[in-house]
Amino acid sequence: MKKLFYLIFTIFIFSCNNNYKKIIFSPDNKIQVFISTKNNELTYSIKKDERSVIKTSKLGIVLKDNIDLTKKFKIISFNSKTHSEKWYPKIREFKEILNEYNEAILEIESENKKLFLELRLFNDGVAFRYKIPNQKIIKKYDVIDEITEFNLSENDSAWWNPAFSYRRYEFLFANTKIDDISKKNYSKLVEDISYDSIGIDAAQTPLTIKKNNGLFLSIHEAKLVDYSSMTLAPRGKGKLECELYPWSDGVKVKLKDKITTPWRTIQIANSSSELLKSNIILNLNDDPDEKIDYSWVNTGKYMGVWWEMIGTNESTWWPSKYHGANNKKIEKYIDFASENGFDGLLVEGWNEGWYPEWCCKGDGIPFSFTKSLNDFDFEKLSRYSSQKNISIVGHHETGGQIQNYENQLEEAFKLYQMMGVKYIKTGYVNDVSKNIKRIDVNGNIQREWHHGQYMINHFKKVISLAAKYQLCIITHEPIKDTGLRRTYPNYISREGAKGQEFNGFSSNGVNHILDLPFTRLLSGPMDYTPGIFQLNNFRYTQPGSGVIDKNAIVPSTIAKELSLYVIIYSPMQMAADLPKHYKKHMEAFEFIKNVPVNWDNKIILNSKISEYLTIARKDSKSENWYVGGITNERPREFELDFSFLDSNFEYIAKIYSDTKDTHWKNNPMEYEISSKIINNKSKFNIFLAPGGGFAIEIVKK
Ligand code: NOJ
Ligand code: CA
Repeated sequence: MKKLFYLIFTIFIFSCNNNYKKIIFSPDNKIQVFISTKNNELTYSIKKDERSVIKTSKLGIVLKDNIDLTKKFKIISFNSKTHSEKWYPKIREFKEILNEYNEAILEIESENKKLFLELRLFNDGVAFRYKIPNQKIIKKYDVIDEITEFNLSENDSAWWNPAFSYRRYEFLFANTKIDDISKKNYSKLVEDISYDSIGIDAAQTPLTIKKNNGLFLSIHEAKLVDYSSMTLAPRGKGKLECELYPWSDGVKVKLKDKITTPWRTIQIANSSSELLKSNIILNLNDDPDEKIDYSWVNTGKYMGVWWEMIGTNESTWWPSKYHGANNKKIEKYIDFASENGFDGLLVEGWNEGWYPEWCCKGDGIPFSFTKSLNDFDFEKLSRYSSQKNISIVGHHETGGQIQNYENQLEEAFKLYQMMGVKYIKTGYVNDVSKNIKRIDVNGNIQREWHHGQYMINHFKKVISLAAKYQLCIITHEPIKDTGLRRTYPNYISREGAKGQEFNGFSSNGVNHILDLPFTRLLSGPMDYTPGIFQLNNFRYTQPGSGVIDKNAIVPSTIAKELSLYVIIYSPMQMAADLPKHYKKHMEAFEFIKNVPVNWDNKIILNSKISEYLTIARKDSKSENWYVGGITNERPREFELDFSFLDSNFEYIAKIYSDTKDTHWKNNPMEYEISSKIINNKSKFNIFLAPGGGFAIEIVKK
């Protein structure tokens, strides 16, 4: 996988002192990290081009039994090295990724206890982590508190959603000053969560920040393994502090004999467009274990027996006259998906355990992951789908009942592998804070957070075992992506934000989709499930009622739904609507059939957070390019400049756009399709209706 690798190694050893200062530079010298032990505190600050990124901020960790690694620091040694390597992911947004950084490792003592601070400075950001090696003087390695600070400034603004709240990552975004990150403000501005009082005020990561000095940041973490998720709690005057989700007994992280924290990452950019191009998170993760074969992992597109439950509400997951996952219907979906070149068909509601009240409190009838419902003949459907070159995308809704799932995991994976399944969508709906049931060693029930170490370890267990059975996983209600998809390529996609589903049973509003690329999507691919074509008059009041809910709309346009296949990266991408709705617009459906899911390059043509975004991506298998553009509720006209195209070729551009009369609310399904011959000198204007967008397929002549 790797092609080029070189290292320059330099080591400096310094004598102990109490007033240590050190500056570390990024490879291009533009970013500087200042480390100090003034006043016995270990601190860091960051600048880029003389502009402040992070002001003096404390570092340190407190362990169980009053082991306080937050003061009385001495620097024992300092090692630095330069690293530059290119690597070539198979499943990707970029053909080639440059991993270039200057690394510094500080060996530190805090009252005779040893720890290491590892820093990596890239040209587009900074990462650091703590390592506490096994040592006689420390008996227990449980983390009570990580005090890492990110000291920004009072006037910087953040795009955030609340941590320690009931619906995991499924929230709209608020945009406020850093000090205003609180449940109270979120309740005022976005959604009432004031009753959800068991957790503290904090924001989830990745957290996006526009600094008053013009810089854009994303604070997140990389390689979150056997630890707890970081959230960011406001401490006044623009300061944020790392707060970890605790176990039910209050301990944040439980480890046996040493500690390696995830990387704390700060992506730094001069513009919102630049922020979308960083590969720091992937660079901080490892290549897959060479002993494990992942050559079977593939990208793809899928349809699903899904929107008719969650969106149009004409079918049920559970046994009824309107049960969606029945043999006859599934065969019809397979026919349509196969005729149109898809790879998979998701089938939800195939197994025992579904009933009308199945959702959402983590209790209730547990699901079986091996027993099918009567009208679902797995063997027959497996044969039928393989004849048609479609793989059934399996579904495991756990309802957040982890032990029930883990007890059946291996049998469930075996069954799916036997039936030719290659992808499984898993789900963890449990809409109550700190409500993941765990039976402890004494047989008592404990309740854990969705984002704590217990769940981090659960997701890792699932992904590792899935690899044994050659299964790719798409998690809904997941833990956030911290780049582990590099190490575990079968972790193909995940939800982890408010996705299209909410436009089915409630609404995300027209502007949410303009927040996602600048926030959640910075962490990795998303199974947003785009491609709804019937944007109004689609939802029945209940299965069998025959009565349409006139108020239900998907706040989008058909052209915008197409653009999302370019805007939202997902190596396993869904066409979420029903065949009967696609059949009404087969010319527009052509774009979904053709659009790739694996890419060689990504270029951001324009962007403004929460307002507009245009992305061009190059197909990994051809010379073709795809462009997607979206706007919030405001109409816009962009001048598109095609200078990114290869100067040696001419191309045919097929343009799917809103018309002057299209409007997300009143007239969302009007679009036009036109063609143009273009080359790298071409420029033309394109109109985006209120709440609309456009998609262009650019095929080499
Ligand atoms: C929530 C998921 O996001 C959705 O896609 C799924 O259909 C339901 N849970 C049921 O599992
Ligand atoms: Ca969900």
